[in-house]
Amino acid sequence: MSEALEKFRAGLSEIEGAYRPALEAAAEENALREARARFTGPSGALTELMKGMKDVPGPSRRELGQACNALKTAIQSLFDARLEALEKAALQAELEGPALDLTLPGRRPLPGRLHPITRAEYDLLDIFGSMGFEVARGPEIDTFARCFTQLGFPPDHPATDEHDTFYVTGGGEGDDAHVLRTHTSTMQIREMSRREAPLAVVSPGKVFRRDDDATHSPMFHQLEGFLVDEGITFAHLQGMLTVFLERFFGGGIEVRFRASYFPFVEPGAEVDVRRKAEHGGDPGPWMEILGCGMIHPTVLKNVGYDPEKVSGFAFGMGVDRIAMVRHGVPNIKALYENDQRFLSAF
Ligand code: PHE
Repeated sequence: MSEALEKFRAGLSEIEGAYRPALEAAAEENALREARARFTGPSGALTELMKGMKDVPGPSRRELGQACNALKTAIQSLFDARLEALEKAALQAELEGPALDLTLPGRRPLPGRLHPITRAEYDLLDIFGSMGFEVARGPEIDTFARCFTQLGFPPDHPATDEHDTFYVTGGGEGDDAHVLRTHTSTMQIREMSRREAPLAVVSPGKVFRRDDDATHSPMFHQLEGFLVDEGITFAHLQGMLTVFLERFFGGGIEVRFRASYFPFVEPGAEVDVRRKAEHGGDPGPWMEILGCGMIHPTVLKNVGYDPEKVSGFAFGMGVDRIAMVRHGVPNIKALYENDQRFLSAF
């Protein structure tokens, strides 16, 4: 008898003697599965043994192959029987164990609630809705043209830099490049290009900038608003925003318009609010809430409007910022961690 044949037979009888005690010793399902794997798993003893079949002389292979398969079947049926026995035993133990205690107090369900950012957004939309603004939502990826060029940014404006703006790989060149929108002002272009004046629209959504610290997140939320009609002036903008801010913050605030620059408005302003001084105390600090201005004639021309006939205003505010001011949250990241202990405080 060849040496390889002898070795093979010896291996076979070793497994024959070993598998039963091994499977019977396993006291729970995982141990049982492990025991089976030691024989018929990918690197189990029987699997390894069968890899040596090629060294065995031809005439004996058939017989040994059959023996191996029979052994494999035997291991599997013992496994099945043991598994069933273990499951039965577990069920039995549960039935004999302590009964259900129906007097235990129930678990209180954790009621869901809207996230502070969602709530701020809904409250903003409520107020603007009541003032006659329609709501439009648009894509978070948009063209370089709609994010910058058509809004009157010069091609080399620092905001267009890769240090500030996320570009989409393979998204085209120049005006056709695609960016994660850096502001919701893209929606001015989208809505005005497809509709005639008069129109009054607000558009909430996510925007993206390469910014990351306690008060800046690379993703945040804005709400854009714009209104175009004949004879619209800065006074309309100022009056409308003042009413809006008083309604949102529930009175007790002062509003300040500060001249500022944005390429797509002229004149432009930033708006700050602070808590009014109460009983001779100090007023709160001024907080910047939004940017706004009269839509630049170039932008009106870019969307096909006649700046000699119509004029309009636009404003954009940070929704996260507004939620932070409202709830006194100092770190914007707290709004994104979704820690129940933090969120349930609102
Ligand atoms: N898009 C500006 C920003 O993100 C805000 C703004 C909107 C300013 C509309 C003026 C008019 O900072």
